[in-house]
Amino acid sequence: MFPSVLPTPRNQPVASIPSLRWGIIGPGWIAERFVKSLKEQSRQRILAVASRSQEKADRFAATWGIPSAYGDVNDMLARDDLDAIYVATPHNHHFPDGCQVLRADKHVLIEKPFALNAREGVALQELAQLHGKLAMEAMWCDYLPKYDVIRQLLEDGVLGDVHTLLADHGEFFTPDHRIFNADLAGGPMMDLGSYLVSFSVLIGGAPQDIIARGEPAPGGINGQTSMLFTHDNGLHSVLNTTLFSNTPGGAVVAGRDATLTIDGQFYAPGHFSLTASQGGKTLHWEEPLTRYTQLFHQAEHFAWCVGQGVNDSTIRPLSQVLTTLKAMDEVRRQMGVVFNEER
Ligand SMILES: NC(=O)c1ccc[n+]([C@@H]2O[C@H](COP(=O)([O-])OP(=O)(O)OC[C@H]3O[C@@H](n4cnc5c(N)ncnc54)[C@H](OP(=O)(O)O)[C@@H]3O)[C@@H](O)[C@H]2O)c1
Repeated sequence: MFPSVLPTPRNQPVASIPSLRWGIIGPGWIAERFVKSLKEQSRQRILAVASRSQEKADRFAATWGIPSAYGDVNDMLARDDLDAIYVATPHNHHFPDGCQVLRADKHVLIEKPFALNAREGVALQELAQLHGKLAMEAMWCDYLPKYDVIRQLLEDGVLGDVHTLLADHGEFFTPDHRIFNADLAGGPMMDLGSYLVSFSVLIGGAPQDIIARGEPAPGGINGQTSMLFTHDNGLHSVLNTTLFSNTPGGAVVAGRDATLTIDGQFYAPGHFSLTASQGGKTLHWEEPLTRYTQLFHQAEHFAWCVGQGVNDSTIRPLSQVLTTLKAMDEVRRQMGVVFNEER
């Protein structure tokens, strides 16, 4: 039945979220935003940062008021007063960095995608189990209040049988960006495409069948990917990602009883509307387009899991992460995209 109001986002009580002691590997673009959000919006403590360069680590630490800076990640990981490490390095470093953190007996939050492929993802999962540590993917959108409302609408069956997901995520990048670098697992799939595939898995579960077509970019990488997934429940996901152009970035999830229309970039904080299939009744989710200020939600969920002694996220379990990676593996297989690490 169509609801009279949207569900309320479910938050863990602040008292159940421990204030963890964090270290960071990879003080780049996203790490800056992560630190800013945590400092402004949470009680999480960032105590250390490690870079490949001592000078860069020092600069980052000075800018953000982080007490310790390391030019060698091993020195940071040798500390026994850090609870968790945030890995914010390029895609092909997530697996080796994640393994190193787990071997140092620390919980790890790894930027998306969790790993380059499902094989690496499973190995990380096994290592986390071996060490009894939490390994979680920083697919930040999944931990946002907006996504929690969407999840509740799906769980409550408000949309009825869901038949169609349309979503795109295209962004213009200049050729000097790491996304064009084949040695850093470039191409849109790992960066932008991971949001799309992950959202499709959230809505429809593992795809049953995948059709993918790609368009190359200079430098031996893929530049654009279009995907059609069919799912057991009858859902068709039609997805496009490109690094050549800006696209609207919205998503439509169409069910028999209601349609969800997510404006702007579907994965970021912002508006959506839910419209009944008959009668046109519409509910609106409104929030400021605060974007990266909401990165702290993933860290707070992570800390809550650690506090509860839960070694797999209850919001985004690794089974879901691995399903997403498997689908991305198949998309790349059909396009003939192989990363250096896989040769
Ligand atoms: N959640 C989001 O919205 C979001 C947004 C953007 C990116 N991301 C994800 O975050 C990760 C990092 O992206 P970013 O845009 O922050 O990248 P970035 O600005 O290039 O930062 C990556 C950092 O990793 C370190 N690094 C280690 N090995 C490297 C290598 N071989 N080449 C280059 N850098 C290396 C670098 O720090 P040192 O030089 O100091 O070692 C660098 O500052 C990616 O996996 C991406 O998908 C997430």
